[in-house]
Amino acid sequence: MATAIVVFGSTTGSTETLASSVEAGLKEGSVNVTVKNVTQTGVEELGSYDCIILGSSTWGLGDLQDDFFPFYEKLADVTLHGKKAAVFGPGDEESFPDNFCTAVDTLEERLTECGAVMAASKLKIHTATGAGVDEEAKEEVKAWALTLAKSL
Ligand SMILES: Cc1cc2nc3c(=O)[nH]c(=O)nc-3n(C[C@H](O)[C@H](O)[C@H](O)COP(=O)(O)O)c2cc1C
Repeated sequence: MATAIVVFGSTTGSTETLASSVEAGLKEGSVNVTVKNVTQTGVEELGSYDCIILGSSTWGLGDLQDDFFPFYEKLADVTLHGKKAAVFGPGDEESFPDNFCTAVDTLEERLTECGAVMAASKLKIHTATGAGVDEEAKEEVKAWALTLAKSL
């Protein structure tokens, strides 16, 4: 059975909700999945899994979610050659069209620099600020994770 870790950073709960949908999709695809808040894990844990999935919302004007910064910095020193990886996150496309979900791009770039191979297209989910995550988005994320699971 393939193993995966989902690491998320979330300020108001949207990314955490999406991480649960990723977990559900991976489980449906028979992946042994561990979900961790980025505040409760470290980059040294990543090497223990076949697939690494990072999720961050975007704040400021295109920044990572606050809790993600220390983890992101430490990732620069990690080698993930041959590991499969994927990235996801919510953002507000209507309010921030020029910086929509750019944290997702940032995470994908860093994972690629570490030698990981992207196993799914990055997933950007529009969430109107303050509105949380709707059912349609949850289903989209779950379906994405199931497709990812089948590629592991
Ligand atoms: C002050 C502020 C800045 C934001 N900046 C961006 C941004 O640059 N790009 C983007 O796509 N979304 C932006 N958003 C929207 C958040 O990413 C969105 O609300 C997201 O669902 C929050 O997820 P979280 O609760 O998991 O942190 C911003 C929201 C606020 C309130």
